[in-house]
Amino acid sequence: MPTTLNNIAKQGANGAAMMPVIQGVGRAAIEIAAVLRGAVFRGALGGAGSENVQGEQQQMLDVLSDEIFLDEMRSTGFVCAVGSEEQEELLVIEEYSHADYLVLVDPLDGSSNLDVDGPVGTIFSVVKRKTPNSDTPHVSDTLQSGKEVIAAGYVLYGPSLMMVCSVGDGVHGYTFNPGSARFELSHGDIRIPETGGYYSVNESNKDKWLDGMGDHLDRMKADTGLGMRYVGAMVADMHRTLLKGGVFLYPADEKNTTGKLRLLYEAIPMGFIMEQAGGKAMSSGIAVLDIEPEALHQRVPVYLGSHTNVDSLLG
Ligand code: AHG
Ligand code: MN
Ligand code: MN
Ligand code: MN
Repeated sequence: MPTTLNNIAKQGANGAAMMPVIQGVGRAAIEIAAVLRGAVFRGALGGAGSENVQGEQQQMLDVLSDEIFLDEMRSTGFVCAVGSEEQEELLVIEEYSHADYLVLVDPLDGSSNLDVDGPVGTIFSVVKRKTPNSDTPHVSDTLQSGKEVIAAGYVLYGPSLMMVCSVGDGVHGYTFNPGSARFELSHGDIRIPETGGYYSVNESNKDKWLDGMGDHLDRMKADTGLGMRYVGAMVADMHRTLLKGGVFLYPADEKNTTGKLRLLYEAIPMGFIMEQAGGKAMSSGIAVLDIEPEALHQRVPVYLGSHTNVDSLLG
């Protein structure tokens, strides 16, 4: 069982190259965690005064986290480009435009929690380029289904600083140890419980859901009696679902008719982790990992969790 990020990165088919990339994510996580702590005293909370391609008012910490993450990916020397929630276009890393890997990232997930000191996260996914190394990386290099993912995971900035990731041979959780100043294995080989847990959804949208999902949820609630927990940050809601079981869902609704969550840097990495942990990851009538992406910021409905709960919800 890998005991530090160095060990996990050596596993999997692309192990040697994944080590610097996953270590880079770890460094970015430590830097972002430091920026989050005490941000209020540096006037770093609040809006950046800019809107991102999602139509969201960017938080200053969205922008700063994005810069930190990009810098750490550049310093690995293995990443040729980054597709980020906070950048409309693919960001080519010129010095390493010949490198093999692209990283998709939600640099700060759940940023609406920032001003109420709620949990936030970072979500990432790594794919190998399709274009020749001699070419400039192209956005088409990012449009690969979840079956092509080489590594993926998330960082949870909560009471502790955790990274949960997989290189395709199971899911491992690492907690930052202030004593040693590094991530150390704390949750080896995470498997989602088959039963129990919670359902997790923003139920206030229920009347606007498409595809009769309101009735589906009412039936699942009646059948299972599950309690409900919802934090409003996908990373936190996903992490609880992974450890306790149940189902996390964000259906399409009249406002977000193709769903709210982004396929490439939210649904696919979380779907990869969920399947690697023995769970299920569905979108509209198709497994998340089978969706062929068409656009960098494409949105999809998401139903992630224990097989029995996802099947009971969608059945
Ligand atoms: P982000 O902060 O990266 O834009 O993501 C927000 C997402 C996700 O974290 C969460 O599950 C969802 O938005 C919450 O949406 P609602 O506030 O509509 O419930
Ligand atoms: Mn956002
Ligand atoms: Mn997000
Ligand atoms: Mn985000």
